[in-house]
Amino acid sequence: MNLTQRPRRLRRSGFLRDLVAEHAVRCEDFITPLFVLEGQGVAREIPSMPGYFKRSLDLTVEHVKVLRDHGLKCVLLFVQVDDALKDNAGTEALNAEGLMQRAVQAIKRAVPDMVVMTDVALDPFSSFGHDGIVEEGQIVNDTTVEVLTKMAVSHAQAGVDMVAPSDMMDGRVGAIRAGLDQAGHTDVGILSYSAKYASCFYGPFRDALDSAPGFGDKRTYQMDPANVREGLREAALDIAEGADLVMVKPGLPYLDVLHRVKQASSVPVAAYQVSGEYAMIKAAAAQGWVDEEAAMLESLLSFKRAGADLVATYFGLDFARLQHGQA
Ligand code: PBG
Repeated sequence: MNLTQRPRRLRRSGFLRDLVAEHAVRCEDFITPLFVLEGQGVAREIPSMPGYFKRSLDLTVEHVKVLRDHGLKCVLLFVQVDDALKDNAGTEALNAEGLMQRAVQAIKRAVPDMVVMTDVALDPFSSFGHDGIVEEGQIVNDTTVEVLTKMAVSHAQAGVDMVAPSDMMDGRVGAIRAGLDQAGHTDVGILSYSAKYASCFYGPFRDALDSAPGFGDKRTYQMDPANVREGLREAALDIAEGADLVMVKPGLPYLDVLHRVKQASSVPVAAYQVSGEYAMIKAAAAQGWVDEEAAMLESLLSFKRAGADLVATYFGLDFARLQHGQA
């Protein structure tokens, strides 16, 4: 054939392909979620998240040092709360001596450079397993926002770098920003879960934290998977209310939303490859149906290609190990 254009010329060798690659996965962009529980010397593998562990605070701190030594820069903290401490008011979430507050202090003390983020939502603390306060079977918005604001200030007092509200109540970013500022925490940032969908892919996470909703589902606050313009609206509101970073969640099933939010957003955009996405790759790999390493790399790269500046993923350390040649 007499062809002037032969795109395959740029694919002839690995070196050439590397040279023209448009996107790359970087450890620097990862947010590593960590599950913290009470106790000493406890590391418990999460059954629906093979290879991923909940750890007591002492081992969490050791793990954060490992993350740092592998070039990871950011952790996002979640805590598992004893059933006896759960109520419908988020009381334990505001406890200055609570596990979350102690975790922030201990990690910042041991690894001051690590960017520490905390989940701000009531579900792990709620006797109903909902992200907000429940009244007559409804999740009430404004009362919940008041508690979330106090929760964020309490994390700031413990030394957090950024709070990450994941609850999807209306107006919470603005209220949290005002609360932080009034308390003198103008440097504490907000990563908002802006377009967070009511998704089945959070299943393993809810197993891990024992935080599944006790009644109903989360569809009166988390978004309808049918909607994309609504995600743009949520992101725009959060940015207007003072969000420093916005996030789209889950990841792979919502790359279109991620792409659109990135185009419309003036702040960096994060994607969250959630627990169920991790579990699917692990499960298929365990069956020998997909190659785990390749599936990890391809999915992580897809977030960058769709426009993610940051990627929250359970594969961060695996990727870093692979890159450092010690898989
Ligand atoms: C809590 C929260 C959830 C996740 C992050 N923060 C669960 C939920 O909304 O039900 C899910 C993370 C994951 O599945 O990896 N509001």
